[in-house]
Amino acid sequence: MDLHLTDKAAVVTGGNKGLGAATAHRLAAEGARLCLTARDGDQLAAAAREIEMAHGGACATVAADLTEAGGADTVAAHAVETLGRIDILVNCAGASQGGRFWEIPDHVWQESLDLKFMGTVRMIRAVIPHMRAQGSGRIVTVVGNTGRQPNPRMLPGAAANAGLLAVTAGLAQEVAADGIVVLAVNPGPTRTERWNGLMASLAEQSGRTVAEVEGDFLREIPMDRLGEPDEIARIVTFLASDAAGYATGTSLTADGGWTKAIA
Ligand SMILES: NC(=O)c1ccc[n+]([C@@H]2O[C@H](COP(=O)([O-])OP(=O)(O)OC[C@H]3O[C@@H](n4cnc5c(N)ncnc54)[C@H](OP(=O)(O)O)[C@@H]3O)[C@@H](O)[C@H]2O)c1
Repeated sequence: MDLHLTDKAAVVTGGNKGLGAATAHRLAAEGARLCLTARDGDQLAAAAREIEMAHGGACATVAADLTEAGGADTVAAHAVETLGRIDILVNCAGASQGGRFWEIPDHVWQESLDLKFMGTVRMIRAVIPHMRAQGSGRIVTVVGNTGRQPNPRMLPGAAANAGLLAVTAGLAQEVAADGIVVLAVNPGPTRTERWNGLMASLAEQSGRTVAEVEGDFLREIPMDRLGEPDEIARIVTFLASDAAGYATGTSLTADGGWTKAIA
């Protein structure tokens, strides 16, 4: 299927590694022009170089912290300056810690909400004026299956995810008349640096091995395996394209069957 993404201008947050980098590769493979953002400028430059070598074309980067006031506006301004417009925003920046509810301190909740939830809100708010002015835009947020199927050991992330699904559904109604669609993808456990770090920290907290902790999650997954970043990237890329033209305000879950629900 031709996704008609050639020359589309796409901003990818969290674009230097994990699901963001995998999505950036897929978008570039489909011909999109990219502006990647994250905090680590060296990793961003390395990710951009890899994309340029693999797919050709120039890949812009801008280092920014989305928890800081002005970070998202800097990213949007740089994307418009380098790409001329913003057709697609993929929100992939996020990092939430887990643990037992009664042992999780305030700052862990705060950090999860400040980056994953508010960072995404700030980024969407920063691109909407540009999309509105051009009368079109596609926003896809990588949320997570815990927003609908909360895991007791991952509640700070689950809370941010549930909030983002509410924003996705509600905002889509507000901006549809401007030609803007708002969608989300809910991955289950997917093998990235963040997932490995989460398993290591849960193992340390519980005095168990990483394999034992990960085994608890695998038991929930009928497919009995973790997802691969490219499996999520393909779905994000499809939703970022006009091939998903009539969909808005909704989310697509890819979690190996973990979520047992009809919708
Ligand atoms: N992997 C999974 O199993 C899984 C499952 C469901 C949902 N998700 C969600 O998918 C998203 C990406 O996860 P991932 O596994 O790809 O994680 P990852 O590999 O750790 O990537 C996280 C990205 O966020 C960026 N980031 C972190 N703090 C930031 C900040 N303050 N400002 C701007 N950027 C920041 C990181 O770059 P810098 O550190 O350089 O800033 C990195 O690019 C997250 O929202 C996560 O909750 C992941």
